[in-house]
Amino acid sequence: MADIETLKTKYAGEIEAAADLAALDAVRVAALGKKGEVSLQMRTLGQMSVDEKKIKGPALNGLKNELAALVEARKTVLEGKALNAVLASETLDMSLPVSVKTGTLHPVMQVMEEMAVIFADQGFSVAEGPDIEDDFHNFTALNFPPGHPARDMHDTFFLKPDENGEKMVLRTHTSPVQIRTMMSQKPPIRIIVPGRTYRCDSDQTHTPMFHQVEGLVIDKTTHMGHLKGCLMDFVSSFFETDVETRFRPHHFPFTEPSAEMDVRYERVGDEIRIGQGDKWMEILGCGMVHPNVLINCGLDPDEYQGFAFGMGVDRLAMLKYGMPDLRDMFAGDGRWLEHYGFSPLLQANLATGLS
Ligand code: PHE
Repeated sequence: MADIETLKTKYAGEIEAAADLAALDAVRVAALGKKGEVSLQMRTLGQMSVDEKKIKGPALNGLKNELAALVEARKTVLEGKALNAVLASETLDMSLPVSVKTGTLHPVMQVMEEMAVIFADQGFSVAEGPDIEDDFHNFTALNFPPGHPARDMHDTFFLKPDENGEKMVLRTHTSPVQIRTMMSQKPPIRIIVPGRTYRCDSDQTHTPMFHQVEGLVIDKTTHMGHLKGCLMDFVSSFFETDVETRFRPHHFPFTEPSAEMDVRYERVGDEIRIGQGDKWMEILGCGMVHPNVLINCGLDPDEYQGFAFGMGVDRLAMLKYGMPDLRDMFAGDGRWLEHYGFSPLLQANLATGLS
């Protein structure tokens, strides 16, 4: 039988020499595994005399514990080495110059960032919600009763019904995020919601996927005057010029009163000039949040009130940056993106200009 000192020297050496975790585990099994050399020796204790056992027993146990501790220590070292190797192979040289030519920011993203900057200045934060919505958030809670004709006006994309016959939808507007926010946050609420929206519609000014920015303010005192001031300020900041606006009465199930906001513009040759002129262009829908919507979200309309608005981002991008056809925006043509795209390194801000 090999003596304890010999075993100790042998395995301590092998543990130290193990180059990786697999090799270390092989040494551990050879020494301490069920059929390992140390374990086999422990089994011979039963055949020893009492006196012999008194000496060999504790000695073997000591050897076992010592080797186990050495394995653990070596394991820690090897794990550290393995991690360092991964980190070394995944280094990123942050000092490499960026090739600005290889990518541009899509005008829609640029405009959403500009909007976020302008509304952040008015104290709004950004909220988001899912593109695939249920009927409750997209319609019912927004005061579209089942069978309401306005549901059809939205040219909704329905998904296949589930086992209960319920059909999810691709959200037709960003307004469901109003519901999600009011049901999960306590007023005062002051959010904008940039996001994708979907309607079954396609021509020069409509694409089946488009973008909206929603706005929602809920507190105890906000009124229609605040709504008008907020949006009038927004358009002048966005178009970076004085813009004359008008509010026309309109109807949305989820606001009362409701309005559409138009901006003055004129056409000079092929160019559309926003701000002055003799024509009006509609750019957004808005209104005071309907009491039924507040109730559906568990808010007391005698205590809380506020306004909401929603606007099409793609159209505003076309107006500001002069793209003639909405469909080009989503064609994924590299030349178009190179021409109309924005530098990803320049961040929109109100101090030095939005674009
Ligand atoms: N959700 C409306 C639409 O898509 C826009 C809107 C939002 C109107 C909020 C009023 C208030 O047409």
